[in-house]
Amino acid sequence: MKIIGIIGAMEEEVNILKDKMEIESVSQKASMEFYKGKLCGREVVIVRSGIGKVNAAICTQILVDDYEVSAVINTGVAGSLKNEINIGDIVLSNDAIQHDMDATGFGYEVGVIPRMEQSTFVAEEKLVAVAKEVCEEVNPDINTFVGRVVSGDQFISDREKKEWLVSTFKAYCTEMEGASIAQAAYLNNIPFLIIRAISDKADHSAEMDYSEFEAKAIEHTVKLVSELVKRI
Ligand code: ADE
Repeated sequence: MKIIGIIGAMEEEVNILKDKMEIESVSQKASMEFYKGKLCGREVVIVRSGIGKVNAAICTQILVDDYEVSAVINTGVAGSLKNEINIGDIVLSNDAIQHDMDATGFGYEVGVIPRMEQSTFVAEEKLVAVAKEVCEEVNPDINTFVGRVVSGDQFISDREKKEWLVSTFKAYCTEMEGASIAQAAYLNNIPFLIIRAISDKADHSAEMDYSEFEAKAIEHTVKLVSELVKRI
């Protein structure tokens, strides 16, 4: 692979990676700062996209157009959708769906994007396999899961909505960018991987847990991403 694009929605999700990198250039576009350089010897561009699917999709397209990235990794935190996936654990995407895409009024299933061949975007198998191996090596005290990530422009902090996501999509975690990055990667024919550490359980306790556990969760994604870029 050539240059790898690394996207985090928030400063907290990319700052530690940026501090670890040898920066060669910084440029701005669409209110985003693109840091190009080497992370652990590997050519990367690291960028904070901003929160939500629109920001994340625009960011991915810029990475493709201006940096010709050969793959995109989305790193950050997420709410767990499974009892056995605990705060601090990591979920790697095997695929991703936008849970707030709803054209059911036209007879489509929820999550299906009308007039597109695909609405469930599948991560590259090899990327997932290497990431799982690396994650278990560098984060031995937590569990690493591979499963579906669902994304929407909603912070999920409500048990009913959580149960709906679980029963409708059989997803492992929920966040606000991954599936739009996956769609942009699919449209540009490049591989993607979503790496999410669990900061909360996407229920009534989500807001409190999120503030308390976000930093710890990010430590796990930083360890994984730093080592992963060396091996892909
Ligand atoms: N990111 C982290 N936790 C989340 C949640 N509960 N809902 C959406 N995005 C999140």
